[in-house]
Amino acid sequence: MKAEIYEVITKKKEFSQLPRKDVEIAYSSFEKRQTSEEEKIRLTRGLLHKVFGAFLSRKLLGPKNKSFEWILRKHISTRERIEFYPEIYSGILKGLGKRISVIDLGAGVNGFSYNFFRKAGFDVSYSGVEAIGQLVELTNNYFEKEKINGRMLHLSLFDIEEIKKIIKKIEKPRVIFLFKVVDSLEMLSRDFSKKLISEISSLADRIVVSFATESMIKRKKFYAKRTWFLEFLKENYSILYDFELGKERYIVFKK
Ligand SMILES: C[S@@+](CC[C@H](N)C(=O)[O-])C[C@H]1O[C@@H](n2cnc3c(N)ncnc32)[C@H](O)[C@@H]1O
Repeated sequence: MKAEIYEVITKKKEFSQLPRKDVEIAYSSFEKRQTSEEEKIRLTRGLLHKVFGAFLSRKLLGPKNKSFEWILRKHISTRERIEFYPEIYSGILKGLGKRISVIDLGAGVNGFSYNFFRKAGFDVSYSGVEAIGQLVELTNNYFEKEKINGRMLHLSLFDIEEIKKIIKKIEKPRVIFLFKVVDSLEMLSRDFSKKLISEISSLADRIVVSFATESMIKRKKFYAKRTWFLEFLKENYSILYDFELGKERYIVFKK
């Protein structure tokens, strides 16, 4: 992708801090089409909006110093989880001891749930990876202010080698979260979630994948893929726990 095209696409504020890799992958879906450059840019922005746009609510970036609950309620993914967090974290982290490293891939604002690790009795060292720079900054400011043992990294999950390097440096036991991220990854690159999991699974003591279970018309297409995805997990991994809480299904597995 030419530098000028990247610049035009990311002129829009909502895409202004996305890693180049994600923009490139989105653009490559339309690059070979027999259409004008303007149209390709329009289509790329449309796809990026589907993958990332919904998660950068203006409300989140508005007034500063809001409570962690306020932030969790403003994000589409964390909102429905709030009352279940202690149960979710106890359910997925049990059996690994008290001190655990969590690596949250495609974290969104889930770092604001850090207090729930404490409530569930865990002393967590948290590393989140997120493509939307604004959410990285928002969460890092919160960690700093609250002196939380956490950090957010601004990186694309498509940058597998970098992700692996980061994970290797993190203390064990390591638990990797992929909460409601598989659908986003598949939208940009089919089968990528399978590749990502295959590459990082030997570095983790546990991986947790979650899916929204509420049926939305737009999500219908992913249900078919999910069956295939679940088959992939069953064939290649040992499933430790599989449960549903608050319109979300959590599958905990290991290599
Ligand atoms: C549905 S949200 C889920 C957020 C969070 N995991 C949760 O469940 O609360 C998906 C998140 O993944 C991020 N994401 C999607 N594709 C990504 C990529 N290639 N690299 C890094 N982050 C990505 C999006 O920006 C968004 O914040």
